[in-house]
Amino acid sequence: MRLGKTADDVVVAGGGLVGMAVALEAARRGLRVRVLDRSTPGAGATQAAAGMLSPLSESSDGGPFLSAGLASLRLYPGWIDALRAVSEVDPRYRRDGKLRVACAPPALRGLAGLARRAREFGLSAAPIDGEDLARLAGTRVAPPSGALLLAEDHQVDNRCLHRAVSEGARRTGVAVTPDAEVVAVVVERGRAIGVRLAGGDLLRAGAVVLAAGAWTGGIPGIPFPLPVRPVRGQMLALDARDSLPARVIESEDVYLVPRWDGRLLVGATVEEVGFDSGCTAEAGTLLRDAAIRLLPGLATAPVLDHWHGFRPGTPDAHPIIGTAPGVEGLYMATGHFRNGILLAPWTAEALGRLLAGGDGPEIPEAFLPDRFQRSPEDGRRSHAPNGG
Ligand code: GLY
Repeated sequence: MRLGKTADDVVVAGGGLVGMAVALEAARRGLRVRVLDRSTPGAGATQAAAGMLSPLSESSDGGPFLSAGLASLRLYPGWIDALRAVSEVDPRYRRDGKLRVACAPPALRGLAGLARRAREFGLSAAPIDGEDLARLAGTRVAPPSGALLLAEDHQVDNRCLHRAVSEGARRTGVAVTPDAEVVAVVVERGRAIGVRLAGGDLLRAGAVVLAAGAWTGGIPGIPFPLPVRPVRGQMLALDARDSLPARVIESEDVYLVPRWDGRLLVGATVEEVGFDSGCTAEAGTLLRDAAIRLLPGLATAPVLDHWHGFRPGTPDAHPIIGTAPGVEGLYMATGHFRNGILLAPWTAEALGRLLAGGDGPEIPEAFLPDRFQRSPEDGRRSHAPNGG
């Protein structure tokens, strides 16, 4: 492995979408940045995701998560344009909206709550019935108990997006080193001076950003509690060229995400199995059956792929973003759980501001890394993103 001899301004541990987006933003603001990845950049949660940009569905009330999610969604169009320009890669961003359906009557209550929250935040959540549903879905949907069109929900092809951000970062001067496992954050006199790699090399840097997703909590030398845990998600891709929906469709059981190449992504399990790698036949059957229940035309769609990833979960389901407590020059950008793709531009701007100054969002207290050291009273979460 050949690494530069002089210190970088910033070393980012983790080359997934969040780490790479932070690196690009820091480089854009004039810093010399290096990304280290334990394996292949983007091979963690980034490749496993579905790319739904759905802050409303992923939040159970109007807390800081929803505010950040909506702010990030608003950043997306400009971010995508800038990425296209710098990378010449198309991230396949789509603003089709999402059909959210309740298959069974008990799910109607959730749908009503969603419509109420949408109204509170000035978002549209139009009730949809029979003919309109078939037209908006572009394919036959099993008659649901209720349906909404969430027009402001978007999607992006997360793998294309990662390619665009990585290429943009490379062209902006970011050095990327794969197969470089960080085994320690090196701290001297209360200041992070770099990281140590498996193999023993010390890589000096003015600032260290930990963005290693589900693996962040396992990096030794972090002198405060960092309760990030892996939450496995399994996904399928179907060849749905004959019955591809026109937009994302989500029920209480499953979400279906149509891609530009005729694949339909079907997701996802939420499994607390640690880093137990691999897919299970049981989950494959469960996902496929749920997809067919929602769109009966999928009964003959062949399964093209079945994969899994590890979401970085946190105890309060909020991301961990900001300055590390008690260690100067150490920053966190992790714990995004189900929303790393959505929150990437917001996180990049927030970290860009901390690392280099300039514009960027204020990070809400609920996201700050020191919250796990606060008393339960201080650190009590105000809402729980519930997934969707
Ligand atoms: N963002 C959807 C999921 O994590 O399954």
